Amino acid sequence: MEPVSHLVKVSIPNYLAGLPVPDSIGGWFRLGIRDWIALVPPTAMLAGLGYMSYKAFCPLGRGPPCGRVNLTIKKDVNKVVDTVDIEDISEKAAFCRCWRSQNWPYCDGSHGRHNQEMNDNVGPLVVTNKKD
Ligand code: FES
Repeated sequence: MEPVSHLVKVSIPNYLAGLPVPDSIGGWFRLGIRDWIALVPPTAMLAGLGYMSYKAFCPLGRGPPCGRVNLTIKKDVNKVVDTVDIEDISEKAAFCRCWRSQNWPYCDGSHGRHNQEMNDNVGPLVVTNKKD
């Protein structure tokens, strides 16, 4: 544990104290090229940590808020409810469960692109109506 303790209590604080962080806004404009180069590694590390945190907690990070499933379907109603009479299903119907179909409530294959982009594994609910 001593190496970890030394790293946390001595090495990292000394490294941070040695960074050329100016005391005023005007000081940023007086930094030299060596100062800017010295700031690249800690800035890259902070950006990487921020990005990994963002990806961990917000996998749908391209626009929609975290946790939202329905991005486009019937956004003008409070709750999307659809009813399909089983007698209207001739033999087989595939219902969307990924909320990306342009032919809602039926699956149009859009789940494939969603799965590829989000590393997900959703697929349709297939209902059969065998009249034997
Ligand atoms: S398009 Fe949504 S499950 Fe196929």
